[in-house]
Amino acid sequence: MSSAMDQISYADLYARWEKGHWRATAIDFTADREQWHGTFSELERNAALWNYSMFFHGEDAVTDDLAPFIDAAPLEEQKYFLATQQVDEARHSVFFHRFMHEVVERGDGTIAEALRATEPELTWGFRKTFEMLDEITGVLRRDRSRTALARAVTMYHFIVEATLAQPGQHYIQDYLTKRELLPGFREGMVNVAQDEQRHIGFGVKLLHDLAREDPDEVPAAVADLLREVFPVSIAVFVPPNWDRRYTECFGFTLEEIYTEGARSFESKLRMAGLPLESARPAGLPVRPAGRGAGGARAGDAARGLPGRQERRRGARPAVDGAAVRQRAPGGRPAQRAGGTDDAAVGVPGRRALAPAPGQRLHRRGRGARARPGRRAADRLRRLGRRHRRAAGPEEGRRHPAPAPEGVTADAVARPRRVRHVAVANASC
Ligand SMILES: [Fe+2]
Ligand SMILES: [Fe+2]
Repeated sequence: MSSAMDQISYADLYARWEKGHWRATAIDFTADREQWHGTFSELERNAALWNYSMFFHGEDAVTDDLAPFIDAAPLEEQKYFLATQQVDEARHSVFFHRFMHEVVERGDGTIAEALRATEPELTWGFRKTFEMLDEITGVLRRDRSRTALARAVTMYHFIVEATLAQPGQHYIQDYLTKRELLPGFREGMVNVAQDEQRHIGFGVKLLHDLAREDPDEVPAAVADLLREVFPVSIAVFVPPNWDRRYTECFGFTLEEIYTEGARSFESKLRMAGLPLESARPAGLPVRPAGRGAGGARAGDAARGLPGRQERRRGARPAVDGAAVRQRAPGGRPAQRAGGTDDAAVGVPGRRALAPAPGQRLHRRGRGARARPGRRAADRLRRLGRRHRRAAGPEEGRRHPAPAPEGVTADAVARPRRVRHVAVANASC
């Protein structure tokens, strides 16, 4: 059956890239510098620096993490588009670096120093989310299987780009346009957003094609990934001390940005042919019902069906609404490690998803073993700073431990509460 995704070709996405060139080095920041120091209040400067620093570090990270996609993509047309995307991400990073150095006066002119100078602005959720991106793309360097690529595309194009970055870009463009502020930064953000729409369109098409090639394993791999990432990505936008003025001084609430992110994510997943109700990534995770029963597929549970091993043994699946459980071939739910850092923000931690001794998680079942945190450590080491893998939300000069009230993993894990808005054209 032909779908909207079939109307988009990788060659067309490449052609759009050729038509959409812009120069990060040509933007004039003269007026931005005057307005940053003369028009913005101290609160607005702090809030904008907090927000823009996450974009800067995010662009640097995705530039580094895109290379394994080029090796793993099965078609030449996909590889060529991904090569253009890597150029785009480097250009975005150069744009944010120029703003940080020339307007905000951070760093000594090198990208490494500007990253180091803005690193204390990063939230706990941001650090954890990008550690996951490093881990997943690190696995893709050694395991080029279809499911490894599907996990990486979901993490990169759906979570980082469509759910976290795109809504933030729209809000920034909106308030800067209404107040006629930062014309250079605004011009750059418009160009960045257009590039990101093209990247997201590619990611949606690629996941759609991967799922069509393997309608069993790919949706299961996506559901596994979403179960892991939602508890940390929900905390990306938690402002210092839960100070709501960090967004409200620019005219929008945290709830609005979370809602927009959930809406964007759900619509992109639906366009890829994986509607959220068929994935059920978290909030209502699946727990094996009987002793020794195998874990159920998330998709099976969503349809009210028992999993493969349970069907074999006559067991019925149960739904555990209290905690996230990782599917494990041994039938037991994965061991909860009780990490204090993750628990401090009221969500199950990454370590809570670790397998019990002797267990091997489904996602480790093929290819090379993951080496969690290695590339994240490399990046921070490059910045001259020791990697603190176990550090919690209290880390960072300006970001003492945020309270968990207000936003929960469950609120985003069940975005069906959010009004669904269909997106007509994935490639925009
Ligand atoms: Fe980007
Ligand atoms: Fe991008």
